[in-house]
Amino acid sequence: MMTIKDVAKIAGVSVATVSRVINESGYVNIDTRKKVEAAIRQSNYSPNEVARSLYKRKSKLIGLLLPDITNPFFPQLARGIEDYMQENGYRIIFGNSDENADKELDYIRTFVQNNVVGVISSTNFPDSGAYLEMNIPVVFLDRTSNDSPSVYADGRKGGRLAAQEMVARGSSRITIIQGPAHVKPAQDRFQGAAEALAEMGISYNVIQTSSFSYTEAGQWATELFERFLDTDGVIASNDIVASAVLREAHRLGKTVPEDVQIIGFDDIPLSSLMSPSLSTIRQPARDMGSAAARLLIQLIEQDQVEDKIIQLPVSFIERETTRSRMETSKKG
Ligand code: RIB
Repeated sequence: MMTIKDVAKIAGVSVATVSRVINESGYVNIDTRKKVEAAIRQSNYSPNEVARSLYKRKSKLIGLLLPDITNPFFPQLARGIEDYMQENGYRIIFGNSDENADKELDYIRTFVQNNVVGVISSTNFPDSGAYLEMNIPVVFLDRTSNDSPSVYADGRKGGRLAAQEMVARGSSRITIIQGPAHVKPAQDRFQGAAEALAEMGISYNVIQTSSFSYTEAGQWATELFERFLDTDGVIASNDIVASAVLREAHRLGKTVPEDVQIIGFDDIPLSSLMSPSLSTIRQPARDMGSAAARLLIQLIEQDQVEDKIIQLPVSFIERETTRSRMETSKKG
C-alpha cells in the first residue's frame, strides 16, 4: 500500500508538505501543491482517515501581528483582543512586525506552521499575497485594507475634530504634524484636519514625519519650532509626538496652552498623567481590539458574517493643553 512517504518521494517534497496539502492546512505554494496532487493521483494514495481526522482537529490558536508594542497604542489593541479571545477559549501567538515586510512574512509562516485558525494584523501591507495564501480568516486592525475584513477608527473625523476644537479655542497660526506617509490612518487624520481648516478659511503649516516612535519624536518637535516658532496651535500625529512638542515648548519658555495649544491623537494611558495633561483625539483601542477578535471568531466559526468592515467612532478628550472655550470667549 502506498504511504505518505511514497507520495512525498514521488513529488520531491517533505512529508509535512504532503500532509499540509492533504489536510488543507497551512501555506503551500501553488506549484508545489500541483506536484503533490499529481503524485497522489499517480500513486493512487488514500490518506489514513483516522490520522486525517485527528490532524484536522481545529486548534484554538490565533496569530496576532502588530507593528511595535513599544508604542503604548498597540498594547491597548492587544489587550482588547486577548481579553475577548480568552473568554472564548482561544489563545494567541504574538509578533512585532517592526513594519518590516520580511519579518511580517516570517511571522505569517510561523503562524501557519503552528496551525493557527485565524490572524489579526495591523499592517502596512494588507494586500500582501501571503495573507491570501494562508487560506484562513484574517482581520486587519487599525491599518487595514479596503476590501478585506477590517476594524479601524474614523481617522478622518478625528483630524476634523482636532482642527475644529483648536480653532474654537482661539488658535489661528496652526501647524499640523503629518504622520508617516506609509501609514493609512495617519494620512486619514491629516486629510481630515487639513480639509476642516480649509473649510474654515484658515491657512496652516505642515511638518512631515516618517515615524510615530519615541526615538524621532524629539526631532519633529525641534523642527516644528525652528520653522514655525510663532505657531499657536499644534495638531500632532499621535500622543508620543505631542508629548515631545510639549517638552520643546516648555524648553523654549512657552506656556501651554496660553502661548500654544497642543492636541494629540490616540489617548494612550500616559496622556492623562502628563503635566499639563494632554488634550487628544481618542481612538477606542481596546474596543477596536475586542471588535476585531469578535469578527475573527465569527469568520472562523460561522459561514455567513454580515458586517466585515467595522469603523469605530473617535472623540475629543479635553484636558489641559487646550484652552477652554470659555477662556477664548473672554479673550474676545
Ligand atoms: O501611535 C501609533 C499610531 O499608529 C496610531 O495613531 C495608530 O493609528 C497606529 O496606526
